[in-house]
Amino acid sequence: MDIIDVLIQQHRDTEALFEAYRGAPDDEKPELCVRLAEALTLHSTIEERWVYPVARSVVEGPRIDFAVEEHGEMGQLISELLHARRETRRREATVRQLEAVVAHHMAEEEREVFPRLRKVGADAFGLTHSEIIRSASDVRREAMRQLGAPAAP
Ligand SMILES: [Fe+2]
Ligand SMILES: [Fe+2]
Repeated sequence: MDIIDVLIQQHRDTEALFEAYRGAPDDEKPELCVRLAEALTLHSTIEERWVYPVARSVVEGPRIDFAVEEHGEMGQLISELLHARRETRRREATVRQLEAVVAHHMAEEEREVFPRLRKVGADAFGLTHSEIIRSASDVRREAMRQLGAPAAP
């Protein structure tokens, strides 16, 4: 399993979380918002720190700049979602917006970016995928704190 497999698995896990959110009773939704925020923040962190820098050498044009902008948009929606997670109407509207942005973004990555990264040797990323995941968890903790998420127990 290489880092691209890890990222694709995270995309599927994110879709599963949105799906779980849709079917969840109202009182479980705030907690699912926090889990979505954590999963997406971890994923974006890994991509921005370790994967997009390598992608810039194999993907032509502004695709990666757009991807970084989309991460910014997601970050704003995630922050909004964390703040609104106990207000039903605002939360539902924000989840819908976030899911649309995320679905579009993940599809583009899987179509335009990841196939090209398959041709790059694993050592191009500098760290093994388990080292990347470990480092990203620390970064995520800090990023979640800045987004105003509740502290982990
Ligand atoms: Fe991304
Ligand atoms: Fe991604």
